[in-house]
Amino acid sequence: MNYEKVLIGISGSIGAVEIHSYLTEIQNRFNCSINIIMTESAKRIVNPDSLKYFIDGYIFENMFDANSDFKIPHVHLPNWADVLIILPATANIIGKIANGIADDLLSTTAMAAACPVVIVPNTNEHMYNRQAVQRNIQALKEDSYIFIEPEGEGVQLSTKKKIKGAMPSPKELVSQLEGMILHA
Ligand SMILES: Cc1cc2nc3c(=O)[nH]c(=O)nc-3n(C[C@H](O)[C@H](O)[C@H](O)COP(=O)(O)O)c2cc1C
Repeated sequence: MNYEKVLIGISGSIGAVEIHSYLTEIQNRFNCSINIIMTESAKRIVNPDSLKYFIDGYIFENMFDANSDFKIPHVHLPNWADVLIILPATANIIGKIANGIADDLLSTTAMAAACPVVIVPNTNEHMYNRQAVQRNIQALKEDSYIFIEPEGEGVQLSTKKKIKGAMPSPKELVSQLEGMILHA
C-alpha cells in the first residue's frame, strides 16, 4: 500500500507558512498526486497562488469551488483521496470536527471522508493544554481520527522553543506516515 492520492487540508495556523517544505517532503516520499483545501484563515497566512507550483492538483478555497474533476468538492475530493491530512490543524478545526460542525469546505470534507483522516495539530502551548482542546483531541481519537504529533515536543516556529502542540518536522511527519502504511 502507498499514498498515491493525498488531500491536504490547510487551516489557519502559523505553521502554514512552512507548508511548502511539507508538500515537497510528502511528494518526494510517496510520489503522490496532491490536492489542497485551504480555510479562509489559512489563505491569510499563506498565499494559495504560491502553493500551486508545488503540487500537480488543484487548490480549493471554498465549498462551491467546483471544477470538472471535482464537481462537489466535499464529496468527490475525499472519495478520490487515499488519505486526508489536516496540516497544520488549528484548535478551531479540531473543535469543529470533534463537534460535528461542517460550516466550511475543510470541516465538511473531514466529516464526509471515508478515507483515513490524519490531523497534525499546531497551536501554542496554552491553547494545546486547554481542557476543551484536549477533550476534542480525545474525542476524535476515540472516533478513529489519527493524530500525528512529534515524539516529545516539537519546535515552535516563532520562538524556536520546544513545546507541546507544535508540529513534527517534515521528515518526522513523513516517517510517521510511513509507519502508518506499514501497520495498515
Ligand atoms: C498570525 C496568526 C497565527 C495563528 N496561528 C494559530 C495556530 O498556530 N494555531 C491555532 O490553533 N490558531 C492559530 N491562529 C488562530 C486561527 O487562525 C483562528 O482560530 C481561526 O479562526 C482558525 O480558522 P480555521 O480553523 O478555519 O483555519 C492564528 C491566527 C493568526 C492571526
